[in-house]
Amino acid sequence: MWWFENDKTDFVNVKVLDNFYQTSSFYPMPVVLCTTKSENGLTNIGSYSLCFPFGISKNHYMMLISRSTSNTAENIRERKKIALNFIPYDKTYLKNAVELGYPGESTEDKLAESIFTLIPSTREKEGELDELEYPEIIKESVQIFECTLEESDVFKYDGPEIESHFLLRIDKIIMQERYADYLKKGEGFPTLPVDFGFRDSKQFWFSKHSHPYSEPIPKAKGVDTDAVKYQVERMETNIKWHPDSYKQLAKVPRVFLKMILTKINEAAIEEGVDIVTPEFLAKVQEKRR
Ligand SMILES: Cc1cc2nc3c(=O)[nH]c(=O)nc-3n(C[C@H](O)[C@H](O)[C@H](O)COP(=O)(O)O)c2cc1C
Repeated sequence: MWWFENDKTDFVNVKVLDNFYQTSSFYPMPVVLCTTKSENGLTNIGSYSLCFPFGISKNHYMMLISRSTSNTAENIRERKKIALNFIPYDKTYLKNAVELGYPGESTEDKLAESIFTLIPSTREKEGELDELEYPEIIKESVQIFECTLEESDVFKYDGPEIESHFLLRIDKIIMQERYADYLKKGEGFPTLPVDFGFRDSKQFWFSKHSHPYSEPIPKAKGVDTDAVKYQVERMETNIKWHPDSYKQLAKVPRVFLKMILTKINEAAIEEGVDIVTPEFLAKVQEKRR
C-alpha cells in the first residue's frame, strides 16, 4: 500500500565519515565547559562534548577528546589539572558555549567574551600545588568534576596527531546542594542540555532533555548484589562493607532493604566495628533471633 511504501522505515547505509558521531549519526552528548589554567595563570574556558565516563569502578576516570592544538589540550598537557563544568540548559548559556567553542582564540579574548562567573576551585591544598594553581570553576554549573591527567599507561591510543585523548582521574565531584538533595532522595533531576553536534558546517544543535521518568525493575527479580551495593554506598555513614557481605542480603525485599541496612550500620557503630563482614552479619542475625 502506498502509505507503507512511503514511511521510509527500512534501514539504509550511511557513509562513515570523519567525526562520524555528528556527520554520520545522531549521537546525544553532554555539554561540558572545560576550565584549565593557561601559562599566564588565567583560567581558560573551552566547550566540549566528547567527554564520557571511562573507568567506573575502583578507578574513576573520564575520557576527553580534543583537537591537539586547543588551549584546553595544551593546558592539560602542561599543568595536568582540569575542571569539567556541566552547565544547565539555558539558551543564553548555550549561545555563549558556541562562542567559546570557536577555535584559535586566546584565553584573554575568550574571557572577555564569556558570560560565566569564574570562582576559585574548592580543592584543598594537594601536595606542593597551591590552591591558585587549580583552574577556577564556573559558578553557574549544575555539577563539576575536578580532575587530574592520568599519566600512567593505563590507556594508550595511537591515533592521528590531530586528536588528543585525555584520561582524567576524577579527584572530586561537587554539585549545587539542591541537586545533591535530588541524588540523595533518589528522585528529581537538573535540566541538562544535550548536544547533537556541529552539522552542515554551520550550526550546533542542542536540546533540553525532557523530564526523566522511572521504569522500575520487575518486583519478581528481587534485590541482586549490585542493588545492595548501590544502597550501601549511598548510606550516610563511615561504616565500610566487605564485598562478600552484599550477597547475604540479596534476597531481602527491596522495600525493607534501606531499613535493614540502617539497622546493620547502627549495630556496627554500637559494637565499634568499622567493616561489615559476612561474619558480622551472621552475628547480627543470631542476635535478632
Ligand atoms: C557544544 C560544543 C562542543 C564541542 N565539543 C568538542 C569536543 O568534544 N572536542 C573538541 O576537540 N572540540 C569541541 N568543540 C570545539 C571546541 O570548543 C573548540 O576547538 C574550541 O576552540 C576549544 O576551546 P579551547 O581552545 O579554549 O580549548 C566543541 C564546541 C562546542 C560549541
